[in-house]
Amino acid sequence: MTGGSRGIGKATALGFASAGADIAIDSRKLPDLEQVADEIKGLGRKALPVSAHIGRLDEIKSLVQTVCQEFGKIDILVNNAGTSPAMSPMLELEERLWDSIMNLNLKGVIFLSQAVARVMKEHGGGKIINVASVAAFRHETHVGVYSISKAALVMATRIMAQEWAEYNIRVNAIAPGHIHTRLGDSIFEAVPEYEEEFLKRVPMGRIGDPDEIVGAMIYLASDASSYVTGETILVDGGTLTT
Ligand SMILES: NC(=O)c1ccc[n+]([C@@H]2O[C@H](COP(=O)([O-])OP(=O)(O)OC[C@H]3O[C@@H](n4cnc5c(N)ncnc54)[C@H](OP(=O)(O)O)[C@@H]3O)[C@@H](O)[C@H]2O)c1
Repeated sequence: MTGGSRGIGKATALGFASAGADIAIDSRKLPDLEQVADEIKGLGRKALPVSAHIGRLDEIKSLVQTVCQEFGKIDILVNNAGTSPAMSPMLELEERLWDSIMNLNLKGVIFLSQAVARVMKEHGGGKIINVASVAAFRHETHVGVYSISKAALVMATRIMAQEWAEYNIRVNAIAPGHIHTRLGDSIFEAVPEYEEEFLKRVPMGRIGDPDEIVGAMIYLASDASSYVTGETILVDGGTLTT
């Protein structure tokens, strides 16, 4: 579970632990991970907190090695870590912002998936779940590069699903709508008037909670979705119906 220290990643890690999984959780800050690991252990499961920057390929490599040393194999990978969708109109876009978003949201996801898929292939299969966004399908104001990264992730999900089906690896994605997390709330903090405008376009009339993503995660991680691969499931309060 990347980005397991807070928000959607933490809710999912605790949901998976409640469902009986042992979990390695990653983010850049070990102390935050250790707190979540204690909560997972409190649910009676094993937890391995590992600090790694998912935008850096050397750190991805050592993350996978560490997890395999501890658990022997990896059955499920959740590519959840994502950068804050910094506000930048395309006319102001700088290379540094492009690189930081793309390195984490796309390049890191692809190379971590590749490294983990090699392990899964050796052990007879597995499931990979990518966290995309409604922004993959409808661009929101000033988060152009974030939207591009998530749209590419939806396509990467299909490509990996198609190529790795023969190894019994299923690859799917979840596209959350707006969810109350540090990342989600940062958009409304940067542009306060945007929240009211945004909510008008959510038929359910509210922002989602990280716990509301967990059911779809468990579905994709379990045999309940045994004939599903290459799919992206929207969990968005109906946002994309408007
Ligand atoms: N919240 C929303 O409205 C929303 C909507 C659609 C999609 N999403 C997607 O959902 C995913 C989770 O976001 P969230 O809303 O739960 O955000 P969040 O609460 O800000 O959590 C982000 C997590 O990712 C970790 N992280 C950030 N940069 C990292 C890096 N370079 N390497 C490893 N870990 C890193 C963070 O820990 P550290 O900072 O300590 O590393 C944290 O654990 C993201 O992919 C996001 O794009 C969110």
